[in-house]
Amino acid sequence: MEPLSDELLARIVALAADAIICINVHQTITFFNDGASRIFGYAPEEIVGQPLRLLIPQRAVHAHRAQIAEFGRGTVVARKMGERSQISGVRKNGEEFPAEAAIAKMESVEGPIYSVVLRDVTAQRRAETRTQELLAAAEAALRARDEVLGLVSHDLRNPVNAVKMLAAAILRSDAGEREVSVPPVVLEHAAVMLQAANQMDALIQDLLDVTRLESGKLHLHQQSCDVRDVVQRAVDTLSPLAAEHAIDVIIDIDDEVPSLWIDPDRMLQVFSNLIGNAIKFSLAKSAVIVAASVTSRAVSITVRDEGSGIPADELPFVFDRFWQSKRTNRSGAGLGLAIARGIVIAHGGNIAIDSAVGAGTSVCIELLRGDEEA
Ligand SMILES: Nc1ncnc2c1ncn2[C@@H]1O[C@H](COP(=O)(O)OP(=O)(O)O)[C@@H](O)[C@H]1O
Ligand SMILES: [Mg+2]
Repeated sequence: MEPLSDELLARIVALAADAIICINVHQTITFFNDGASRIFGYAPEEIVGQPLRLLIPQRAVHAHRAQIAEFGRGTVVARKMGERSQISGVRKNGEEFPAEAAIAKMESVEGPIYSVVLRDVTAQRRAETRTQELLAAAEAALRARDEVLGLVSHDLRNPVNAVKMLAAAILRSDAGEREVSVPPVVLEHAAVMLQAANQMDALIQDLLDVTRLESGKLHLHQQSCDVRDVVQRAVDTLSPLAAEHAIDVIIDIDDEVPSLWIDPDRMLQVFSNLIGNAIKFSLAKSAVIVAASVTSRAVSITVRDEGSGIPADELPFVFDRFWQSKRTNRSGAGLGLAIARGIVIAHGGNIAIDSAVGAGTSVCIELLRGDEEA
């Protein structure tokens, strides 16, 4: 390979974004490329012939001089500078900046000469600092979330449970448990209190669940279960709501459907959410159908309604937490589908929604069959 011509070398040095600076044995600057001019702010003609210390913070000049002298005496010919401590440069305007540099030594007739390649790492350091700040902020946010989680789960639940228990006790005392007569208006109030406290409890539970799902702290207690039983339980608890809306809920799951390795309580929560939505967003006197289909790999359970449907532009958001369509009455908190999705995914399954405005919505859950059934 031919050696590079002086002209080509000169061009490469001029092009370099890094500062390339040469100094002689007296630490006087003998060469200063364009990169050095851009970084330090000096034109070559004003800095060549000047001492190197002009480019170094005052406090470091002494140590720096000693280091170069020591390097000059040693046998190593090239070295990264500032390996043990950070180094800094000083611009013409007095501004100090963090730098990375390497130094090389060449022998000449007048003694060793040195060339320094130096990079301004201000932007890099700033980005590192910013990353560290963001990391610290994210960690603080996670800690705050866990604190809120603790607060909500214990300190808020206990008083809500107390209200529930006492409201229920007032209602029971009317059932002849004790010889007290409770005025009807008090019974009415107690019933409303109980309902409100139950709603509050359900909301707390939902908030805890989304938080747990997001932090990966939801623990499943999986066992072999008959999905039909789980769906049936969900439909049973929702029957008052279905009756109120005059909705016929049909379960169309036959015996073929194998048992699945699932957490029955969590899957009950999923089906309650989906069937609850189907009832809530349906027109009176329409039907909600829960059907299943089986392949060798998986079981799919679909909850289908003939309700209002969801416009295509809103469909991508339905699984987002707190999301609710502006069109529907906002009776819930918008957490049901987010939780359902989280639970299904925690089971290694899939959830998908399909909807057409005016025609209805179907939500399909696919759960993998366990090894025992495969
Ligand atoms: N079966 C459905 N038919 C029409 N819209 C639905 C249906 N299920 C969900 N949605 C829309 O998605 C939103 C989010 O549902 P969800 O997460 O269960 O929250 P919530 O039921 O508390 O509103 C609902 O507010 C509604 O706008
Ligand atoms: Mg819901």
